[in-house]
Amino acid sequence: MTQLRSRAWFNNPANIDMTALYLERYLNFGLSLEELQSGKPIIGIAQTGSDLSPCNRHHLVLAERVREGVREMGGIVLEFPVHPIQETGKRPTAGLDRNLAYLGLVETLYGYPLDGVVLTIGCDKTTPACLMAAATVNIPAIALSVGPMLNGWRKGERTGSGTIVWKARQLLAAGEIDDAEFIRLVASSAPSTGYCNTMGTATTMNSLAEALGMSLPGSAAIPAPYRDRQEVSYLTGKRIVEMVHEDLKPSDVLTKKAFHNAIRVNSAIGGSTNAPIHLAAIARHIGVDLPIKDWETEGHKVPLLVNLQPAGEYLGEDYYRAGGVPAVVNQLIEQGLIHEGALTVNGKTMGENCRGVEIEDEKVIRPFDQPLVEDAGFIVLSGNLFDAAVMKTSVISPEFRDRYLSNPGDLNAFEGPAVVFDGPEDYHHRIDDPATGITPETLLFMRGAGPIGYPGAAEVVNMRPPAYLITEGVHALPCIGDGRQSGTSGSPSILNASPEAAAMGGLALLKTGDRVRVDLNTGTANVLISDAELMERRAALEAAGGYAYPASQTPWQEIQRAVVGQMNTGAILEGAEKYQRIAQT
Ligand code: FES
Ligand code: MG
Repeated sequence: MTQLRSRAWFNNPANIDMTALYLERYLNFGLSLEELQSGKPIIGIAQTGSDLSPCNRHHLVLAERVREGVREMGGIVLEFPVHPIQETGKRPTAGLDRNLAYLGLVETLYGYPLDGVVLTIGCDKTTPACLMAAATVNIPAIALSVGPMLNGWRKGERTGSGTIVWKARQLLAAGEIDDAEFIRLVASSAPSTGYCNTMGTATTMNSLAEALGMSLPGSAAIPAPYRDRQEVSYLTGKRIVEMVHEDLKPSDVLTKKAFHNAIRVNSAIGGSTNAPIHLAAIARHIGVDLPIKDWETEGHKVPLLVNLQPAGEYLGEDYYRAGGVPAVVNQLIEQGLIHEGALTVNGKTMGENCRGVEIEDEKVIRPFDQPLVEDAGFIVLSGNLFDAAVMKTSVISPEFRDRYLSNPGDLNAFEGPAVVFDGPEDYHHRIDDPATGITPETLLFMRGAGPIGYPGAAEVVNMRPPAYLITEGVHALPCIGDGRQSGTSGSPSILNASPEAAAMGGLALLKTGDRVRVDLNTGTANVLISDAELMERRAALEAAGGYAYPASQTPWQEIQRAVVGQMNTGAILEGAEKYQRIAQT
């Protein structure tokens, strides 16, 4: 066993002055000299739950079971807060805070006497923020999901987080429900503690944390209020102490093979389009090369197996009862689509953990040969509007397929005139105005919504058609943009376009009325104007001071805007990736 790093604080005979100082203050709430000096591992609980973070709040309860597990194995717990990130509560967008929570957690893990850490993950950005920090510092780390909420219900039907909002907006716009029913319908989707019960970004990222090998097998899908959730919290606490003794670190788990496993699992679960951003960020902080194109080459041909909203029908409780991540992984293992040798935090390989795990309900998790959708992974597009953008093909509706993808002789291409919005406020202001000129042929564009333009990148690319088209039966128009999209949205948008307009990507040059052609066969999206005209527009825009976006409102917005990268490479703080494996023992 290597020397525990906490000994440098609490048991360093060469520097008795500082040892005494460190000890006296950690003793002051009742820890004993024996506990701090006898070489017991000091285990951090990185607590993401709080009243401000309702999705993760149940971690305040679960931490008690983690503590019991740690104690049982002879460890000492020091629990500390992580900067809150509530997806639905933080203005202007929770995306802004992922890198802030990352920075804070890196400093905490690096600068305090911790030998290992339990990362309490859950709500969308909390999972990547914690995994990114653990990757940078590289002390033994294990992720504990808080688990999804119970299923939501209204009038005998499942109501899923986020997904119900998109549906309710359409009903409201069509005059079928009033404001009060709108709120009742949306609230019905949140019947208990936990995170979004759909296959949104939270269920996605918690599933991928398990697929990466960073949490105990079978733990991601357990609903927050279930007794099994308490049990796995205890087991997680026990396991992190063993991991410290084994010196099992994130760099042992987060290998290129692990990331490719996660990409394939993401296709099979119908995971969120936020996943490529977050996995790229984690990969860069651990030093694994994961180009955005890997999402298509590794993931596109994998079918959709998990029948969860928004791509399917069911919700989180059903996913758990059907077998969760291990049952999905086993389906992929049987096809040779999983690197079985990838090591996981329980000290066993992905193959040892998941091979042979049966599906318990084939309505919810389909066998590989009866998928919901074939080729369900992302397509990565490029062209003169951007270098990279992703499209989630698993959520293309039959209506959308009929309207845009079944032109005889040209099955997977469509073109039309652009209507361009500059940021979400512009969209909300003009979407229903007939003067905006949206027709059933229109392609909707959202720009100024990327990591710089709308600091942190807004989840706004999935735009609904104007009310006057919805009442005529047009429920979706193609949407393209440099922002993100909620994982709970079932819209087949082309999003995460990089570089964004605010970084003078091609979208900045687009004008309403330009014709744009999207070809899913060749993976291209182009505005149909000449290179010469584009160069002229670029020169004119640069002369005018570049693409204009709103001023920063806080110091952090300004700091992040100055150093943040683009979404195809993780939207991390550029420069931070050179600090790798920085923990000292
Ligand atoms: Fe927190 Fe969806 S809003 S998980
Ligand atoms: Mg979200």
